Amino acid sequence: MDLSIIVPTFNEGPNVDELLRRLGSALDGRVFEVVFVDDSTDDTPAVIAAAAASAPFPVRLIHRETATAGLGGAVVEGFRAATSRWCLVMDGDLQHPPEDVPRMIARAERGDVDVVVASRYASGGTSTGLADATRTAVSRVSTSLTKAMFPRKLAGCSDPMTGFFLLDTDAVDLDALRPRGFKILLEILARRQLRIGEVPFDFAQRFAGDSKATFTQGVRFLTQLAMLRFGRMSAFALVGGFGAIANLVIMWGLIRLGVDYLPAAVAASAITIITNFFLLEYLVFADMRSESGRMWSRFAKSTTFNGLEAVVRIPVMSILVEGAHIPAVLAAALTLIAAFVLRFMFHALVVYAPRGAGRPASEPETAAAVSPGHTLEP
Ligand code: GDD
Ligand code: MN
Repeated sequence: MDLSIIVPTFNEGPNVDELLRRLGSALDGRVFEVVFVDDSTDDTPAVIAAAAASAPFPVRLIHRETATAGLGGAVVEGFRAATSRWCLVMDGDLQHPPEDVPRMIARAERGDVDVVVASRYASGGTSTGLADATRTAVSRVSTSLTKAMFPRKLAGCSDPMTGFFLLDTDAVDLDALRPRGFKILLEILARRQLRIGEVPFDFAQRFAGDSKATFTQGVRFLTQLAMLRFGRMSAFALVGGFGAIANLVIMWGLIRLGVDYLPAAVAASAITIITNFFLLEYLVFADMRSESGRMWSRFAKSTTFNGLEAVVRIPVMSILVEGAHIPAVLAAALTLIAAFVLRFMFHALVVYAPRGAGRPASEPETAAAVSPGHTLEP
């Protein structure tokens, strides 16, 4: 089997030589290439280039100027650039031991699977390399939650969150993937039923450098889950629901501080409108940003819509409170729910519309920028 090894890297310079050395000896006698997909802000690309010059096997470097979709986006870019149909994905920090790769290849060569997952949680595997008890607990809980949400597709997989796997890229529709953040294997497995094989492995300690996992990655993961399972609207609803609760809490707090309910509602709305925009930008519509024009113009559209919505909603709320004698916070809740559907449609169809969509053909350069596979559903 010809093999392309895809290694996403973000500031992993001190690990590069050791990784290539160990891959070289583990895969001695086989045909393979290593493709680094790098988003580093330090000298990692130079380190990789130097190592490539002296490596006894092909080492390629794709350095991305914009780190679109982070780790997951880098891996997909690696799949596209790979010369082999079978691609092995592994981290660049040696937490995924190169010595396990031959066992993964042997499993794939039995010919009955589309993907071989190196699992920390299969019997015989360990996750001792996870930083601490919190990381371990988060990993366990999120693995169970994920498996519960995709009981059939993930039935054969004990570790859908691993970043160490061997994939037949012919079994996957790369254009259908919407990578965001760290969990690219989950994105692949949740889209299409694949035949999964597993080999246990020991998740090792990092060789050098620091982990890039952050709280933000955790939030991205939850959004990814919601979008994979229920579509974009549910992620939008999640953000909207969070905004609505924040809105009510702020309003309640201000009323408690003695502010009249109308100015309290105005202030609460202004704060949530702005936070809501950034949550939509970085979570719900992250994959559509690059094709939908400038951020300030989306900001203007989004906040104008939500501002107008609030301008209409607040008098309606006042009618409900004064006229129908509904408690102020309940009236706010009712009007927030009513506004939700309208808001989703406006954002999905207008704010994040690919640039040039629906414009007259006299703007060829923007019309051409619309990618064919670009639909609203992930
Ligand atoms: N190109 C690119 N762009 N690479 C990235 C980025 C990015 O934005 N962020 C992280 N990486 C690279 C790192 O350089 C490393 O090679 C690999 O992705 C994993 O990142 P770590 O910072 O080492 O993350 P981790 O150890 O917390 O997470 C690993 O373990 C998880 C299981 O707990 C990863 O393998 C995850 O995929 C895996 O799910
Ligand atoms: Mn790591």
